[in-house]
Amino acid sequence: MRASGAIVAQVLDMIGREIREGMATLQLDRMAEDYIRDHGGVPSFLNYTPKGDPNVTPYPATLCVSINEEVVHGVPSKKRIIKEGDIVSVDCGAYKGGYHGDSARTYIIGDVPPEVRKLVTVTRECLERGIAQAVAGNRLHDISAAVEEHARSNGFSVIENMVGHGIGSELHEEPAVPNYGRKNTGVKLREGMALAIEPMIALGRSRKAVSKNGAWVAVTEDGKPSAHFEHTIIVRKKSAEIMTLP
Ligand code: MF3
Ligand code: CO
Repeated sequence: MRASGAIVAQVLDMIGREIREGMATLQLDRMAEDYIRDHGGVPSFLNYTPKGDPNVTPYPATLCVSINEEVVHGVPSKKRIIKEGDIVSVDCGAYKGGYHGDSARTYIIGDVPPEVRKLVTVTRECLERGIAQAVAGNRLHDISAAVEEHARSNGFSVIENMVGHGIGSELHEEPAVPNYGRKNTGVKLREGMALAIEPMIALGRSRKAVSKNGAWVAVTEDGKPSAHFEHTIIVRKKSAEIMTLP
């Protein structure tokens, strides 16, 4: 998991250096796929087929690139051009040596309003606070409650119908890791459990990300911007070990 996690982290670092206004989101996807394959990995999302939803086609790309009101699963396109003032959430997964790594970051393009900048900062902090709870002996929803409390106390809205997940030889494993919940509930966390923790937090009041029939991309209900940060972590005794750091 360290190997796949490192690849994902390097991809997101590279995107941080390269992303700018005027770029098509598909350019980022090409860079990411090349990097993953050059380092002996396979993109985790490419051709991913969700179980149980016959309307959705296999995911066609390496990255999810979701701009502003797009919460997650934006499909890269040569027609989608990044603009000054956008916030761009990039989610990347890679598979190597039998295991997946999964991580996301939201990038700010040029000048954005102060409340949007704050949304991005608070969402990153939500992830940090969630990770801080991912220690052996705690319960799963201690993570969820920490994320929710930080988002709400800053006046932001938690997207509730999209969740983090267990991760390992499959991209999505049990348990689901919601971004809201009650402390002291959920399964006991044990050392060695691997989780993808991924707060999706919105400006405004939307508590759901919705997609039009068959489309992958999911947007806020009120069209307000949303941010997303994700790490793949391993539960340890004192503090979680983050797999998706460069
Ligand atoms: N990080 C997201 C997730 O964990 C990305 C999934 S995209 C998909 O669910 F194509 F793989 F579905
Ligand atoms: Co994930």
